[in-house]
Amino acid sequence: MEKLEKLRQEFDRRLNEIRDAKSLQEARNVFLGRNSRIMEIMATLKDLPEDKRKEFGAKINELRADFTAYLAKKQAAITATDMRDRLQAETLDCTMPGFNYQPGCQNPYWLIRDEMIEILVQMGYEVYEGSEVETDYYNFTALNTPNDHPARDMQDSFYLDNETLLRSHTSAAQAHKLQDNPNKLIKIITPGKTYRRDSDDATHSHQFAQIECLVIGKDVHMGHLKSTLRTFLNRLFHQDGEIRMRSSYFPFTEPSVEVDMTCVKCGGAGCSMCKGTGFIEILGAGMVHPNVLSIAGFDAEEYQGFAFGIGIERVALLKYGIDDIRRIYQNDRRFIHQFTAKTGE
Ligand code: PHE
Repeated sequence: MEKLEKLRQEFDRRLNEIRDAKSLQEARNVFLGRNSRIMEIMATLKDLPEDKRKEFGAKINELRADFTAYLAKKQAAITATDMRDRLQAETLDCTMPGFNYQPGCQNPYWLIRDEMIEILVQMGYEVYEGSEVETDYYNFTALNTPNDHPARDMQDSFYLDNETLLRSHTSAAQAHKLQDNPNKLIKIITPGKTYRRDSDDATHSHQFAQIECLVIGKDVHMGHLKSTLRTFLNRLFHQDGEIRMRSSYFPFTEPSVEVDMTCVKCGGAGCSMCKGTGFIEILGAGMVHPNVLSIAGFDAEEYQGFAFGIGIERVALLKYGIDDIRRIYQNDRRFIHQFTAKTGE
């Protein structure tokens, strides 16, 4: 009994010293834990004579219930104090200026690229991803442009070593697609970056992007090319214009054409942009050269097709009236943000 009284006094002293969660936990361990003083005393119960045991046991339980209740009360008090302290420390200053989040937007290059792809996909084309690093073979040789061909000079390129270069046109992807699918029907577009050694100015950039289009079948002719281009360009520029083909030269097409379309600025009436002609040049195209088909393993007697390549930035410049191609790469927010509103155009 005396032992219990001493323990209670000890507990009272300790209770007064508890200031925080840590000292509370320590007290709990000492007085109620598995190796606590109460447990020690409890272990001595079995040595007591039978008649004392019951009474002593009841006392111990009472003491334990008291300890538990006091510690719980202390716990509640500490939690309340902690909360009050935190609330005082974490004051909210409503007068502080807010953060100025500036939402991003799409560069006009991506807006136009997506729009062009969407129109062509709706016309039944599949997107075929090419590679920006190409071998000389796919960029030139397989496209009927052998090593000593003067047309290689038309596309002065960035070589990485003797055989690899940054593709000078997306036509390189054509060569892959053809080689992988000999004597099959093909209808693909390849969008992506291309590189040529060029002095950068308002209309030229050493890095630019194209969308290549390739159709191969058994009954494909210039009429298909013309109607495809008219449909595509009219949808892209939201007009009901004409297209005009001028004879041109590319080693991988025969015949080859430069394609003009009704001027987007004057609608064909003649203005400073189209130099009074009513037409502006927009892309290069032609019927796939039989040599290109043969090199890829096609039966060039049975299969023909058309191809065209269109510059993406050029479309952005024309569609949005941008005066300098370099703006597209400079990432000036004031410039880029002007086009977001036109996304749903
Ligand atoms: N590859 C040509 C160029 O970049 C464009 C083109 C593609 C022409 C397909 C004809 C057919 O100038």
